Amino acid sequence: LAAEPTTGELRQFDTVAHRGAAGYAPENTIAAFDKGLEMKADYIEIDVQRSKDGELVVIHDTTVDRTTDGTGKVGELTIEELRSLDAGSFKGEQFAGEKIPTFDEILDRYHGKIGILIELKAPELYPGIEEAVAHELKERNLDKPQNDKIIIQSFNFESMKKMDALLPKVPIGVLTSSSLHTTEAALLEFAKYADLFNPSYGLVSKELVDKVHSLGMEIQSWTVRSPEAAQFLIDMKVDGIITDYPDYVDPRN
Ligand code: G3P
Ligand code: CA
Repeated sequence: LAAEPTTGELRQFDTVAHRGAAGYAPENTIAAFDKGLEMKADYIEIDVQRSKDGELVVIHDTTVDRTTDGTGKVGELTIEELRSLDAGSFKGEQFAGEKIPTFDEILDRYHGKIGILIELKAPELYPGIEEAVAHELKERNLDKPQNDKIIIQSFNFESMKKMDALLPKVPIGVLTSSSLHTTEAALLEFAKYADLFNPSYGLVSKELVDKVHSLGMEIQSWTVRSPEAAQFLIDMKVDGIITDYPDYVDPRN
């Protein structure tokens, strides 16, 4: 008799810890990314923006109001001002003192340990951010095909075309929550420069997964915050599940 496959061999998708394991720790902080690592996710997902003085920082909203003790637009605050904020307390007093990480800090701390799904958040607000991201990756030799656990994604498709031209060997993903982008014509257009089509899970069907695969792209879907949503995406056989709760989708936890 053949040996029973291990749990690991049964898994056919990557688990992506969304903004870190954001269900358990303050999103886009070291505490959340460490939690994703501890929970054995395959990737952490990060949102990258730029400070007033040109530093790349990791935060989701375009203002600091929701997740820190400060106020104002990310792009109108200096790195010193951003780093002085408390980005942990909103999730609980035990996280007080967590800071907004820099992009450099995340690359240096995690590359080689866990995959990094890099989202350029609102890149239209930060002209030239694509070149800055490419520079940081090249400097660390993370723009080569063997470093296959770096992916760059965005809702901004023009930005992703630019990223593909700057880093032709790094996989590019397009994000959408619009059914306008699941048509044959739209998918064919994405396939010209993207390696992944990453929709919100309400758009996912077996037909869509097959279509994306037939065009040579992979599909990762988001944001799983319930065991039912996790099971749905496992059944749809997507390639990656982006979740605030890595344990909902990965029985190794
Ligand atoms: O990785 C996909 C997901 O992060 C996109 O939505 O708003 O959480 O950045 P959002
Ligand atoms: Ca994101």
